[in-house]
Amino acid sequence: MSKILVIHGPNLNLLGQREKDIYGQTTLDEINVALTEFSKKYGVKLNIVQSNHEGEIVDIIGKVKEDHINAILINPAAYTHTSVAIRDAVAAVNIPTVEVHLSNIYSREDFRQTSLIAPVSHGQISGFGVDSYLLGLQAIINILK
Ligand code: DQA
Repeated sequence: MSKILVIHGPNLNLLGQREKDIYGQTTLDEINVALTEFSKKYGVKLNIVQSNHEGEIVDIIGKVKEDHINAILINPAAYTHTSVAIRDAVAAVNIPTVEVHLSNIYSREDFRQTSLIAPVSHGQISGFGVDSYLLGLQAIINILK
């Protein structure tokens, strides 16, 4: 059974309370339930983590081989736009990685319109709310087939 690592970056633990006009009402727990239900339908296993710490995310990505992870679904949140370290970690482990965003980062402030992670990812899905995660998971499942 394929194992997919789902990484939620900084402040995504606050979903449901945080800037609801941008990110919606859905909580992180609700997103994780939706992802888990979806994964069961397709017979894949998810390891889901959330971290507000760049180094911790780098450490988690660096362990994918040891943890027998086949692919990564990541919302790097604010680190999307700043983290060379997370980009290098994704490039280093070299397994299928899909970047997702709830909001459309290209319709927002200039500083959000650059992703350091997308160029080392298989692709990016941005702007569909919770569906961005489900579309991203579907993309990974298709890649792993
Ligand atoms: C986000 C977009 C980022 O710019 C922001 O820093 C986030 C969330 C999104 O899912 O829309 O925290 O990744």
